[in-house]
Formats: sequence, structure tokens, C-alpha cells
Amino acid sequence: MKDIFAPNLLQGKHAFITGAGSGINKRIAEKFAEHGAHVSIVGRNIEKSVGAAADIVATGGSAKGFSADVRSFEALSMAVTAACTEFGPIDICIAGAAGNFVAEAKDMSANGFRTVIEIDLLGTYNTFRSVYSNLRSVGADLLAISAVQSVMPTAAQAHVCAAKAGVDMLVRTLSIEWGAQGIRCNAIAPGPVEDTEGMKRLAPEGQSSWDRLLAGIPLVRAASRDEVADLALFLVSGASRYINGTVVAIDGGQSNTGSLPMGNMLVDSLRRDKAGA
Ligand code: COA
Repeated sequence: MKDIFAPNLLQGKHAFITGAGSGINKRIAEKFAEHGAHVSIVGRNIEKSVGAAADIVATGGSAKGFSADVRSFEALSMAVTAACTEFGPIDICIAGAAGNFVAEAKDMSANGFRTVIEIDLLGTYNTFRSVYSNLRSVGADLLAISAVQSVMPTAAQAHVCAAKAGVDMLVRTLSIEWGAQGIRCNAIAPGPVEDTEGMKRLAPEGQSSWDRLLAGIPLVRAASRDEVADLALFLVSGASRYINGTVVAIDGGQSNTGSLPMGNMLVDSLRRDKAGA
């Protein structure tokens, strides 16, 4: 697809992106590299991080893969140090790593709930906190990947709803604490996005799940990974320089509708799973 932005918007900048081995964050990493950024790709699975970086380098971009589980502040700090040795101070940080599974609260263990809170919410804090002292002093841009669940209480998603609501408030709070230092902090909140692990989990019964999901979206389709990457690029570019502390929905209007259809679809699929088991 033809790029809708002027070329080289991020020329020479260092973008540090967690969860960029696949899905939305990988496309964001590719798009930033296409615009001249040096991209540090951070993930739990080093093979995936290195592979995603190699894909970027193969198309003429600048990238390197690093290993860290966002639940570990120490591991992230080591990745930040290594990334800054490679590409210098960080201009842009995307906290993209996330975890999800479909389960009703009563069927989830305390550890299951905690795991998603730790990856999504604590992981976002750890990411931003670990890059903080290594940001370029003026004009650094932080962006978290939230989700429609932050504002849409959804059955079988209690862990994700709680975690992403926390992510939204974290971003808004950091925008107040760090704004005077020239650090902007925003989030994007996607609904369903094609070709992602998250959507494989949220459409457990394939096409029939998709049909029920899309029926609850005013634009009656999912976003492409490219559309989400375009929004991320806008939010870390000079074009959005006065936008701070905002959570931008990219959901085809889904968050203006009720979440019962989506929640019912997820619960139905869990019940059918159980009945078949
Ligand atoms: N239903 C109920 N509980 C579940 C579950 C499910 N489908 N999947 C995992 N859990 C529980 C586990 O049972 C475990 O709890 P327990 O120790 O009390 O049994 C807990 O969650 C942690 O699971 P574990 O597999 O040990 O964690 P992990 O750190 O290896 O993986 C997940 C984290 C569970 C989020 C895993 O799905 C993951 O790695 N996801 C990353 C990719 C992803 O989710 N992408 C989509 C992003 S939107």
C-alpha cells in the first residue's frame, strides 16, 4: 500500500519497541524503519526479535533484536542499555507487549489474572520507567498499546479490561509528570486487527466468531496492521506535537457500542469448547 505520509519522518531517530516480534508492533517497527528510524525490537522470544529485525535489515532498514520479558524491570533495563549502545539515546518508545486469553473470571486462577496484569500493565510501566533515564532530553515520545477493552467491560476479558484501563490511566498520569521535560505520553486503543495473535484468540471459532465480532463494529470490518501503524507514526511525529496524555481509539467506532455481543460470542465459544471436551 502506498505510504500516505511524507518520506523519512523519523530519519535517524531511535525507536525502542516491545512486543515487536510479531503482529501490530512488528508492523509499527517496519513502518518506523521505512521512515528512517533505527529500531530496537524487544521481546521475550529472542529468535522472534532477531528475525523481525533481520526482515527490516533485509529491506534496507536499520534494526536489531533484543531479549527481555517486560515483566522483569532488570531484563528490560539491560535491553535498554544494549539498545542505546547500538543506536544512542531513545527518541521513541512503544510499549506494545501484551498477553491475552479468553476465560471467564470464575474459571481463571489468581495467577492467570495476575499474569495478564503483569504483562500488560506492569510491563507498560516497566518499559517506560526503564527507558526514562535514556530518553533524548527534549522531544521524546512514548506510546502505549491499549485496547478497546479499556473502556468496554467485556465478558471473558476481566483481566485484559482491568489491565488496559490501568494502562490508559498510567499514560495520562505520566503525561502530567513528564510533560514539562518535553516527553509526550499517549496510547492507542485498537479494536479487532487483522493478522494478529490477539485476534486468533478473540475469534476462537474462525469465521463464525469473526462474523459476530464484526457485526458489533460500525465500520463492519477489522483494522489492518497498516492502519494501526499509520496512527502510531502520526502520534510519534511532529504532526501530533501538541497531543499529550490522550488515548486514541482505532476501532471503527466499536467503543461507542455495547460490548455484550462480543462478550456473548466469547462465552458461547468457551461453553461449546467445554461441551465438546
Ligand atoms: N484459560 C484460563 N487460564 C489460563 C489460560 C486460559 N486459556 N491460559 C493461561 N492461563 C493461566 C495458566 O493456567 C496459568 O495459571 P496457573 O499457574 O494458575 O495454572 C497462568 O495463566 C499463566 O499461564 P502461563 O502459560 O504459565 O503464562 P506465560 O507467562 O507462559 O504466558 C499468557 C502468558 C498466558 C498470556 C500466554 O497466553 C502468552 O504468552 N501470550 C502472549 C501472546 C498473546 O497473548 N498475544 C495476544 C496479545 S493481545
